[in-house]
Amino acid sequence: MNLKDEIIKLKEELDVTLVAHFYQRDEVFELADITGDSLELAKKAMETSSKYIVFCGVGFMGESVKVMSPEKRVLMPKIACCAMARMIDVDYFDESLAKLNAMGVSTEELLPITYINSSAAVKARVGEMGGMVCTSSNAYKIIEKGLKSGKKIFFVPDRCLGQNFAKSLNLKSTVIGDGTDPKEADIICYDGFCSVHQLFSTDDIEFYRNKYPDILIAVHPECDPKICDMADFVGSTSQLITYIKELDPEQKIAVGTEYNMVNRLRDKNTYILSSTKPECPTMNETTLQDVYNCLKEIKDGKEVFSNEIFVNDNVIKWAKVALQRMFEV
Ligand code: 13P
Ligand code: SF4
Repeated sequence: MNLKDEIIKLKEELDVTLVAHFYQRDEVFELADITGDSLELAKKAMETSSKYIVFCGVGFMGESVKVMSPEKRVLMPKIACCAMARMIDVDYFDESLAKLNAMGVSTEELLPITYINSSAAVKARVGEMGGMVCTSSNAYKIIEKGLKSGKKIFFVPDRCLGQNFAKSLNLKSTVIGDGTDPKEADIICYDGFCSVHQLFSTDDIEFYRNKYPDILIAVHPECDPKICDMADFVGSTSQLITYIKELDPEQKIAVGTEYNMVNRLRDKNTYILSSTKPECPTMNETTLQDVYNCLKEIKDGKEVFSNEIFVNDNVIKWAKVALQRMFEV
């Protein structure tokens, strides 16, 4: 039996749900019971009744499921860490607050919002301070809600997402350390970014617009603000998929987001907005063999797994508060 059939058979036998993000390799994605963007996966995985969640994605996604459903055993065939999520931890978070305090913005004046691409520990710190989590699908609503507190938003870790949503809400943003005065800003961004979404350039947009004058450009809000400003549409992974599927089949479109996802949508009129192959290296780490190995450990009745997600109780308590505030919106 080949690996794919072995996995299908093991899934049928075990009390397990296989979850995969849109950026996973095709062969892994095709076998998943639940697929989606980070928001959809967090919601759907939490709602399943399976004892085991086998999550093909990056570390913060598995952690979010564990935080929302601590009774479940969350296994990741590969514990791959999102490069952006690694750019901030609780110490960096606190150092940033200290820098802002030194620049005349007190902690009491700030409401933190963390992009879901962050560790559970950072989410917990945000939850303790009265803040919330957001994803690229709901950032607009979450920031709008946060502003109702009358405080400035301290947005971590993605400076691009923070700047892009500030612009769409007609707000003033700043990035810590860029030389501007945070006292003047409505949204103060931490200086993190996604190395994959930084790959799209204004040259790529010009190239496609010169070649096909009627082409549409659609990008993810993790792209640099100058790319988003030039695009016809900016949306999260699911929003991009819906937008592309609803277009006239003859409409050409170039899409600026992760390669595996765009490639799945590709036809004669859908292009990847890059001259390179913008794959997320960590999302690509999970192979069919890893999925098989993970399921086999469950089948063999192991009690200690190679790649189980654990989150400490205090972190669960506060990260859950931050995530729940997001789900309420
Ligand atoms: P989505 O929230 O759109 O799934 O994005 C997650 C991500 O990591 C994008 O790079
Ligand atoms: Fe993280 Fe970027 Fe990969 Fe998304 S594409 S998981 S933000 S490194």
